[in-house]
Amino acid sequence: MKINGEITPPGDKSISHRSFMFGALAQGTTIIRDVLESRDINSTKEAVQSLGAQVGKDGNIWVVTGGSLREPAAVVDAGNSGTTARLVSGICAGINGVTTITGDSSLVLRPMGRVIKPLEEMGARFLARAQRYLPMAIQGGSLMAISYDMEVASAQVKSALLLAGMSAQGTTTVNEPTKSRDHTERMLAYFGAPPVIEGNRISISGNTRLEARDISVPGDPSSAAFPAVWAASTPGSRLLIRNVCINPTRTGFISVLERMGAHISIENILEKAGEPVGDIMIHGETLQATTIQGEEIPKLIDEIPVLVVAACLAQGTTVIRDASELRVKETDRIAAMVKGLCRLGAVIQECDDGMIIEGPARLDSGSIETFSDHRIAMSFYVLAQAFDIDITLDDITCVDISYPNFFSSMESLI
Ligand code: S3P
Repeated sequence: MKINGEITPPGDKSISHRSFMFGALAQGTTIIRDVLESRDINSTKEAVQSLGAQVGKDGNIWVVTGGSLREPAAVVDAGNSGTTARLVSGICAGINGVTTITGDSSLVLRPMGRVIKPLEEMGARFLARAQRYLPMAIQGGSLMAISYDMEVASAQVKSALLLAGMSAQGTTTVNEPTKSRDHTERMLAYFGAPPVIEGNRISISGNTRLEARDISVPGDPSSAAFPAVWAASTPGSRLLIRNVCINPTRTGFISVLERMGAHISIENILEKAGEPVGDIMIHGETLQATTIQGEEIPKLIDEIPVLVVAACLAQGTTVIRDASELRVKETDRIAAMVKGLCRLGAVIQECDDGMIIEGPARLDSGSIETFSDHRIAMSFYVLAQAFDIDITLDDITCVDISYPNFFSSMESLI
């Protein structure tokens, strides 16, 4: 089924998390507009409150007063949010005292060793389940700067180290194997403390102080990707997506859709809180298969499930490689997509680090396990609409993690 119309996605999830965290760390009062109001962001809001930040709401505007964080009195519950757990662990590594972080049944299975190892090198002490999973307790305090070569391209690990480095003795340097989303670096600059960036090496000095700012959160490209794929891969569709963050570390899915033959243009480009923002115009086409791999992966890691939907609609064999990080997201997203698509009749091969998809797929209606993963649920919804088949999802409430009015927004386009 084709679509027509225009849509404004909710606020960017990564930038919304950081807005509350930076507001909590900065001296003074930070005003946040257009923040994403979702379950994940609520986890971060409650986490910074328990660390001592004052958080209030005036109409649609959030007001955060920070600058003197302290040991929390109770356990911090990061819910389903990896960004909350990992970035808050970086903040707490620099706070004198003990913080305990836990999460829901998905988050307690996700790897925390990637933040524990470098933060321990800086001098924080951790007690974690099986040494690498939540729940974990962090004894923070006086940190020493380190120079750290990251094993995986992860903005969450990079951000945790930069946040810890802000209060360490000396200059902390993080070296990424491939560039991941750079919202933390941009927000540091926006709050008056630009890090030094040389290629994939980012350095922050230990006496970094942030000054409160007004933030307007741009729309989330990861949420925009769902209607974008739907429009791009159904000939005759026309869709305008307004106010989207077009930070180049996030727009890999647009490059892939263009490579597959979609007609996409970006207009009205401006800047909000140090981030480029624009309106995306999409005209649908019959897409051609492509290969997605290498340095492109971190720029579209969250969009791969919905790009798999584009691959199912495209002509030819689409190959996705170098994406083993998908196995440690809210669920194992490679297994979840392959299992669901096989069930509907697609020809798809699972690889350790990706998938090989034969298109165009001939699909039957059916029921799908979402594994309570918001992006799996939204991807199969788009698949059902684009293919005009009936799909029953076992959990639709999980979309509240990142896109609370997803279904009504999508229905407005039909
Ligand atoms: C995020 C970084 C990415 C992404 C996640 C949000 C962030 O995770 O998948 O949805 O806000 O920093 P990794 O850093 O683990 O790759």
